Amino acid sequence: MPRGFLAKKSIAELLEQAEDKKYSLKRVLGPLNLVGLGIGVIIGAGIFVLTGQAAAQYAGPAVVLSFIISGIGCALTGLCYAEMASMIPVAGSAYTYAYATLGEFFAWVIGWDLILEYLFGASTVAVGWSGYMVSFLKDFGIVIPEHLSKAPFVFDAKMGWMHTGAIINLPAVFIILVMTLLLVRGIRESATANNVIVFIKITVLMLFIGAGLFFIKTENWEPFIPPNQGSFGQFGWSGILRGAGVIFFAYIGFDAVSTTAQEARNPQRDMPIGILGSLGISTLVYIAVALVLTGIMRYDRLLVPDPIAVAVNSVGPEFFWLRPFIKIGAIAGLSSVILILLLGQPRIFYSMARDGLLPKQFAAVHPKFRTPYITTILTGIVAAFFAGLFPIGILGELVSIGTLLAFVIVSIGVLVLRYTHPELPRTFKTPLVPLVPILGAAVSLLQMLALPRDTWLRLIVWMAIGLVIYFSYGHRHSLARSGHKSKD
Ligand code: ALA
Repeated sequence: MPRGFLAKKSIAELLEQAEDKKYSLKRVLGPLNLVGLGIGVIIGAGIFVLTGQAAAQYAGPAVVLSFIISGIGCALTGLCYAEMASMIPVAGSAYTYAYATLGEFFAWVIGWDLILEYLFGASTVAVGWSGYMVSFLKDFGIVIPEHLSKAPFVFDAKMGWMHTGAIINLPAVFIILVMTLLLVRGIRESATANNVIVFIKITVLMLFIGAGLFFIKTENWEPFIPPNQGSFGQFGWSGILRGAGVIFFAYIGFDAVSTTAQEARNPQRDMPIGILGSLGISTLVYIAVALVLTGIMRYDRLLVPDPIAVAVNSVGPEFFWLRPFIKIGAIAGLSSVILILLLGQPRIFYSMARDGLLPKQFAAVHPKFRTPYITTILTGIVAAFFAGLFPIGILGELVSIGTLLAFVIVSIGVLVLRYTHPELPRTFKTPLVPLVPILGAAVSLLQMLALPRDTWLRLIVWMAIGLVIYFSYGHRHSLARSGHKSKD
């Protein structure tokens, strides 16, 4: 019997489908790889670019507290993701969880929304990568002209869209296309490349923390919470909160671990390790970096695109040896973020296509490499397009709002499943239910509300486009609604 918009997929059905040979992905990822994937995607533009902005404009040295607050918010949702991923270890992340808990319509909404996090996330970080790369090459006398390394379009809340005179951000396009090729080649190769990159980026940050400790001047931390300057968000406690909103971007990505559930050797055990392990390690690194950064350089001088490199510079000649390493670390670090976001997106498309919500070609797996190559290439082309044309701010806010919406739905999903399917085996259980999921959803919703109106408008337009596609295609081809189990 045909089912309605809220048709759900049973978890047994989801698991059975995951084992279907025709669509199966290679199970090669162990717990270390998964933690590596998490760190690879979490530590990126947030710490290397945005920390300086948040300290200089909103929170001062208390940006450390912004990191802690945002980290706690993410931990609440991370616990919910860990339960979901251990219970439904199938590719697709929040999309799949929504299908099992809230039904097809919400699954589509969240699947479409996740494009904002993954695809646009890759574009955003590619723009940050381009900035660091251009500055690194300049140190060696290689100059990439502005019209080939900046966004041709920018947006101003008062003036609207404007043309900058630039043609394209070429380095941003370049890095996306390189990562796309790597991903088509194979997940094992990608995971190995990621492990190397993660090693470089953590080593560089550790060097910064270790060497920086000797150059901290405690007077830079005074006042630790600069007094509020009259309006909300400009220092003081409200500044710490606004800083937390900006810093949220730095945590995005721990959920990406869950998109690879079908490629994990033992997902029930290892998904929670991957998600919570990478989130915990990144939080500690962030707090330490923020303390050292604001300790070696006064916060009001940190409003630059490369605050860590600038702070190293400010110390004096005895610290100059670290400069090139910081840039290499940032370039490598941002590369792995792009890699993993581009890895997550096709796996969500793949899941949607298997369910009939997108054309079945989207679920095609490469005969030799066993990767979802069609969607990988498509994702790469679209992400390169946005990275080549738009600035980091616009893209970044869209990524944050899209991710937060997914967090709200996953947190609610955990609650729903606890009541509708209490009997299902959960190798990891979110503690203090219903408190943790409710707080997780509430904190995410509050952060969404703090984002600008234009970002909300873009979210609404994006979702409206998604609904048109759903009603003209997905709704009519959905396999769950027609009662089929899987594509044959
Ligand atoms: N958390 C990732 C970053 O900061 C997206 O680049």
